[in-house]
Amino acid sequence: MARVLVVDDEPGIRDSLRMLLAGMCVVETADGVDAALRAMRAQPPDLVLLDLVMPGRSGFELLSELGHTPHAPPVLVLTATRTVSTAVEAMKRGAADYVTKPFEIEALRIKVRQLLEHRALAREVEVLRARVEERDRLGDLLGASAPMREVFETIRRAAASTATVIIRGESGTGKELAARALHALSPRAERPFVAVNCAAIPRNLIESELFGHERGAFTDARERRIGKFEAAAGGTLFLDEIGDLDVAVQAKFLRALEERRIERLGGSEPIEVDVRVLAATHRDLERDVAAGRFRADLFYRIQVVPIDLPPLRERREDVRLLARHFLAEARAQAGRGPERIAAEALAALERFSWPGNVRELRNAIERAVALADGPVLGPEDLPAAIVQTHRIESLGDAVREGRMGFEEATADFERALLLEALELSRWNQTHAAERLRITRRALKLRMDRLGLEPPA
Ligand SMILES: Nc1ncnc2c1ncn2[C@@H]1O[C@H](COP(=O)(O)OP(=O)(O)OP(=O)(O)O)[C@@H](O)[C@H]1O
Ligand SMILES: [Mg+2]
Repeated sequence: MARVLVVDDEPGIRDSLRMLLAGMCVVETADGVDAALRAMRAQPPDLVLLDLVMPGRSGFELLSELGHTPHAPPVLVLTATRTVSTAVEAMKRGAADYVTKPFEIEALRIKVRQLLEHRALAREVEVLRARVEERDRLGDLLGASAPMREVFETIRRAAASTATVIIRGESGTGKELAARALHALSPRAERPFVAVNCAAIPRNLIESELFGHERGAFTDARERRIGKFEAAAGGTLFLDEIGDLDVAVQAKFLRALEERRIERLGGSEPIEVDVRVLAATHRDLERDVAAGRFRADLFYRIQVVPIDLPPLRERREDVRLLARHFLAEARAQAGRGPERIAAEALAALERFSWPGNVRELRNAIERAVALADGPVLGPEDLPAAIVQTHRIESLGDAVREGRMGFEEATADFERALLLEALELSRWNQTHAAERLRITRRALKLRMDRLGLEPPA
């Protein structure tokens, strides 16, 4: 049964409400704001009946407190007939409705019933929304597109096994998040997840980083050191950018995978390690194998279960979901910022090619949240390249719909194409010219003619 909390300093009112509402709901009472807060913390009610005028803290204080509480119950204000204006004020501050004292029994019952029904509906919506969110995410990975659903499915299936998994995808597509999600779903979730970025560790240190070393193994080895393999014992070792692993170390790594044993540098005893290996790369390993940069035997050993994270431009359906999520995150972080994204800005985000994928989208939203000063994040808050792409794509529509003439549109098109290429190349003119497949000289001429200059 629904729970109703009656907050009134007069015992007579509390008793009569208890009687009036008996059978409809469970009634609890509090004689003031402090007692009410205590009761609500112990068990949140579905509805609060609140007297505004009480000695000590007034009902308004409780109202404003509830205004800051997520999922707060609705408030029905109890007020004496002559103070209806106060009740109106209370509704402005978030009360759902009011009834005047002395109560008209039937009217009171109806209002209570309505508010409780409304509350139950809102609950249901919340549960549904949570379920949808559950469906569109796996760990910290979000995605509603078909390719991401498929990725989620593969991760779920792979989590149960101990097979080596290779996660492939362009920079910023969520490879590390995928690895963490896989680990978190695996039977090893309670054991360590150890990440090693092969691209970030100097060649001469990577071996000892992975396998550890004994004291005196080499000049600088003053102490025995445990490697990442041993640190991940019982858990998961995530080898990021495996394509950058030195060929000599690849052989040793393959042996460790196959024999489930490692040797510390300068050690003589092999050590058994139970480690699940996940690897990631943004490179085309097949091509690296063909070019002799990556060992074929290691390649076949690690690509038993491949997980391919598609670039964001191939799953534009996810942009909206991700953008809203990053907006909420950035707002929570900053404690301020726009509440929603304008339709125009969303359209621009969906059209952009996102060479830096989801990471770039997150950065764009974070930057926009820092810049925007209204309640709505608009196109003007987005990086220039995104806006130019949007412009280029919209020009055809503008002409067809009669909003722009041919001359204006083609001039605008040229300008927007140049600006987009320049922005995407961070105003490096050689790169921008390559993008546009014109000579640097031709680019410069057009820039001068249009008065395009790098931003200060
Ligand atoms: N599907 C996603 N849902 C939510 N956030 C994502 C998703 N994909 C990427 N991100 C965001 O992008 C950031 C980069 O993701 P991650 O580090 O996993 O990418 P990566 O593929 O490992 O990139 P790199 O190759 O550059 O290391 C994450 O911190 C996260 O904020
Ligand atoms: Mg990464």
